[in-house]
Amino acid sequence: MRGMILPENLPKDFHLMCKQMKLIGPFSQILTMDNLPYKGPIQDASMHLIRNAGVIIEDGCITDIGDFDVLSTNKKITVEEIPGPSVLLPGFVDAHTHICFAGSRAADYAKKIQGKTYQEILAEGGGIHYTVEQTRKANLETLKQGTEKRILRHFSSGVTTMEIKSGYGLSVVDELKMLELISMLNEEIAVDLVPTCLAAHVRPKEFDHNTDYLDFILADILPEVIRKNLSGRVDIFVEDNAFKPEEAERFLMQAKHMGFSLTVHADQFTTGGAIVAAKTGAVSADHLESSKDRDIKALVDNDVAAAVLPGASLGLAMPFAPARRILDAGAGLVIASDWNPGSAPMGDLLTQAALLSNFEKLSFAETMAGMTCRAAKVLGMEDRGILSSGKLADMIAFPTDDYREILYHQGMMKPEMVWKRGVIYNN
Ligand code: NIG
Ligand code: FE
Repeated sequence: MRGMILPENLPKDFHLMCKQMKLIGPFSQILTMDNLPYKGPIQDASMHLIRNAGVIIEDGCITDIGDFDVLSTNKKITVEEIPGPSVLLPGFVDAHTHICFAGSRAADYAKKIQGKTYQEILAEGGGIHYTVEQTRKANLETLKQGTEKRILRHFSSGVTTMEIKSGYGLSVVDELKMLELISMLNEEIAVDLVPTCLAAHVRPKEFDHNTDYLDFILADILPEVIRKNLSGRVDIFVEDNAFKPEEAERFLMQAKHMGFSLTVHADQFTTGGAIVAAKTGAVSADHLESSKDRDIKALVDNDVAAAVLPGASLGLAMPFAPARRILDAGAGLVIASDWNPGSAPMGDLLTQAALLSNFEKLSFAETMAGMTCRAAKVLGMEDRGILSSGKLADMIAFPTDDYREILYHQGMMKPEMVWKRGVIYNN
């Protein structure tokens, strides 16, 4: 029996200590997610499915994948045997989270159940502003503990790479505190974390005008982010109570000029953000619950990936983003959790994706591509999200012999085994 190894106890280069080549299997099915288009609809029949399959890994990477019996003819390879039925997929990549925060917004949630809207709570100075207050106040150890707990919970649900935004600091000191913490956790924990600077989340109370605050981010926060090498990505919340499309466009173009890649919180309640993402050459426009056909077309025409966040719809009791229309229009659909204390407190990516798939009629392939190969591409990490020779051995195994069971259980079937760079963590 394999013992439980916790990812926080392992340095990132642990896989180098396991240099030896090993064969893992047999899996009832492996879905490699290889050779799928990055844009548009995908039918399940296009997926590369290998039955009675095995994976050979060395130094944390896949060196071969195929029929288990053929691969096991090499008697020199150690075999890590998989008992019972098992379906293997690439580890999930969650391309949009806000899991570095302090405090709870349970009180806001109770107000929302009584009929107050997210936007009303924000306009009254609560919502994001409350989490900013709590996050600024929290000492590093408290912030670290909460963030680490959420990272490990996500990891045990199969998320082996996750993006984490700042955005609850909104001052030089506090934005850097968040980004430095994410960077520290990235070194300490085997999971890969991708930091994004979301200083342009909302205007903090110390500023009277949006443009002054955006100029302050450009002049004082982003140069420090570059100097300390804390993030290569910039995000902005384009919305009525946050930043207007014209303000965002100017800000994003300047951030791009400084060398950042761009992503946008777009079209959550009102439109405008997707068009900004298209005009500024962002890698993704995220949310899109309110997007109209012309917004979706702008994304497709400009090669901007469309990241939908079903967790925010569930958290706010709002309709899902039109994922089916987005795919049929030819866009690259990414599905992310948006895990945050306000609009998306659940944080269970697989459950959210399964529900979205059912309501929006997404195939298994479209749903999984949105959390694997397509999500990895949005983060510029094409060494993962696909199981093929040369890719990272980030893999998750579900206890079934039929991949269709995974969505059928609507998120309640979790991976039983998770490998990060070839090292196994049993659930
Ligand atoms: O993606 N909408 C803006 N930002 C987050 C919510 C952050 C919060 O409410 O704390 C989102 O939904
Ligand atoms: Fe978000």
